[in-house]
Amino acid sequence: MRVLSGIQPSGIMHLGNYFGAIQQYLELQSKHECLFFIANFHAMTSIHDNKILKENTLQVAIDYLALGLDPEKSSLFIQSDIPELTELTWFFSSITNMGLLERCHSYKDKIANNATPSHALFSYPLLMAADILIYKSNLVPVGKDQIQHLEVTRDVAQSFNHTFKTDIFPLPEGYTPDHVALVPGIDGQKMSKSYENTIPIFGPEKKLRKIIMSIKTDSLEMDDPKDPDSCNIFNLYRLFATEDQKTDLANRYRKGGLGYGHAKQELFELMLDYFSDARTKREELMNDHSYVQAALKKGAEKARAIAIETMKEVRTLVGIN
Ligand code: ADP
Ligand code: TRP
Repeated sequence: MRVLSGIQPSGIMHLGNYFGAIQQYLELQSKHECLFFIANFHAMTSIHDNKILKENTLQVAIDYLALGLDPEKSSLFIQSDIPELTELTWFFSSITNMGLLERCHSYKDKIANNATPSHALFSYPLLMAADILIYKSNLVPVGKDQIQHLEVTRDVAQSFNHTFKTDIFPLPEGYTPDHVALVPGIDGQKMSKSYENTIPIFGPEKKLRKIIMSIKTDSLEMDDPKDPDSCNIFNLYRLFATEDQKTDLANRYRKGGLGYGHAKQELFELMLDYFSDARTKREELMNDHSYVQAALKKGAEKARAIAIETMKEVRTLVGIN
């Protein structure tokens, strides 16, 4: 069983990335062969500044490692270290109908949120399909927002296999356990780098506190009873809390007398505590770039060897070799 997933270095890693993706990576890395990468080709749909792209790519690598990705167990690499991906994307492009991509919600959502409607943004599910299929991956841990892209990947795999009368590509399954919520941002819509509503995992405490204090709530007074389930603060708190902590805070919401400012402070403290070891590890890695670079090099060598083998087969199948 081969597991694969990637995160775009389009900004700072946030709680949506952690609960929607990284937590599952950490669970899977002890059980299966895992490949995890930093999707810098994908991030070019939103970043056109070479310094920022390079810096973000390094920061995301450091974040992955600080949060517990173990390079002895998983291969960690940068997407662009596998140049064969762009070739496979073109092959997929040649057998994909426009309609399949036109149906993708993510493109429409991003455009509605002022993203530039570039051709790359439109065709990005095909690069994602290449990411997954070039390693013949079986399981792809992703957040709910990416499930449709996995369906596209399965369609592309089937269409390639059918067109070239082969069974080269397995049909990958998603891995999005039920308890994994779509993490809300500070404004209540999906937390996303593109929506400027994120709570970063790392960063100066003062800045994190300020962001948490800006979470949107309704305007009920302190004494009013409140509904925890429809509150953004509670919906974030429950991701970190134990069952007892959740029940306790929910009861205090319903009873009245709890101000939103207090609930935010409790969320802030719980979050700091939760990531305290990762914050320490991150400080160490910031001073040891050679460790990070060595991990990325080792991961890329492993991933590229697989990609090269697949492309040998693929070129023969399509008649380009
Ligand atoms: P963003 O939307 O911030 O650009 P990415 O697209 O890089 O984030 O997502 C990387 C991974 O994190 C994907 O598996 C995605 O499903 C997951 N993810 C991102 N935001 C959320 C969220 N708000 N809730 C759950 N999972 C998320
Ligand atoms: N498109 C994914 C996102 O924005 C990132 C990604 C790119 C990915 N290629 C992938 C995720 C392959 C899983 C597998 O979140």
